[in-house]
Amino acid sequence: MTTSDKRPSTRLVHSGSHPERYKGVMNTPVYRASTILFPTSDAMKQGVKNRFESVFYGRHGTPTTMALEEAVADLERGYRSIAVPSGVSAIMVSLLSFLKSGDHLLMTDTAYSPSRDICTSFLANYGVSTDFYDPMIGAGIKELIRPGTKAVFSESPGSLTFEIQDIPAIAEVAHAHGIKVIMDNTWSAGFFFKPFEHGVDVSIQAATKYLAGHSDVMAGIVTASNEEVWKTLKNTSAYLGMCLGGDDAYLTSRGIRTLDVRLEQHQASGLKLAEWFKAQPEVERVLHPAFPECPGHDTWQRDFTGASGLFGILLKNLPNHSLSIMLDNMELFGMGFSWGGFESLLTLTSPPPKRSAIPWAAVGHLLRVHAGQEDPDDLIDDLEAGFKRLREAL
Ligand SMILES: Cc1ncc(COP(=O)(O)O)c(C=O)c1O
Repeated sequence: MTTSDKRPSTRLVHSGSHPERYKGVMNTPVYRASTILFPTSDAMKQGVKNRFESVFYGRHGTPTTMALEEAVADLERGYRSIAVPSGVSAIMVSLLSFLKSGDHLLMTDTAYSPSRDICTSFLANYGVSTDFYDPMIGAGIKELIRPGTKAVFSESPGSLTFEIQDIPAIAEVAHAHGIKVIMDNTWSAGFFFKPFEHGVDVSIQAATKYLAGHSDVMAGIVTASNEEVWKTLKNTSAYLGMCLGGDDAYLTSRGIRTLDVRLEQHQASGLKLAEWFKAQPEVERVLHPAFPECPGHDTWQRDFTGASGLFGILLKNLPNHSLSIMLDNMELFGMGFSWGGFESLLTLTSPPPKRSAIPWAAVGHLLRVHAGQEDPDDLIDDLEAGFKRLREAL
């Protein structure tokens, strides 16, 4: 079925689905494969020649991973996608595709901490230098471009502090200098932000989060703007031996079918919780792109069609022990490093965010909130009880 003329929710239901190939089964079944047998030596030669399209060896893809890739390329409105084993592997594939020894990378100062560490340790060891830039830089990125600059990496909103970047302004400058724009688009899940309509060349997602959506899968996805970019990414991913297992690819495709309804609930609950936090005297600032005080809020209104369920809270300077009494005894909110699943999370950002272009000056604690699928009024009851504990322990 052609889905490109359909509305977003319809596309999520049907993209990458080929019941005609699988006896009417809607979700492409789990293929677990290493060896693929060919009927003749000619067919085998053709299989290798046609390796980007055919199933010829398990590591290069199976019908299950290809169905997922098709669905995500459709979701992000990209050319084609590549399924990899985690969000971090998607980050690595994108960086190693466009950077070699002697090159220079511009990385947002508000990147997910492992993305930052990849630059300062792994890439530095391979002779790639990195400058971190202020996420609010927009067209000002021009001043940071050097002769060897090959890629600008963006993440919008920023990890932990939720600044929204002016991606079109950055992309315009980058493209004028032949520089690729890579974006970590995990927060919007590709549903609320269409990267290729805003100048991105490579969009990556930790599919572990909203795409899989049920806290039981590690997966990543890289999506390209055009064929040339895709081939470069595909070769890198093949050299690195990246392949996603059939079960995880299947679960991620299944998650995508309900992405829109889950995100609507994450969004509604996230906004309700953020409003509640805003009214608490212990809260210094709510870091949520839908709130006017969030840096880049106007850009979010211009470029995004919604907000997912992840946001931050900057607290006033409070004693550690009172905070622990609150956090350690939450009934519904869990503490964990991930997000994008069905469960709500309330996590202390500790140590504080690593920043160098715009040093982090706030003295209060930073909390990261993920609004899950629970009834938001139950979540607020849990928060009321938690803040009561906190106040009693001050
Ligand atoms: C914004 C962002 N990008 C990438 C990743 C990495 O994903 P994974 O844990 O699947 O490697 C994460 C994980 O938390 C993330 O928050």
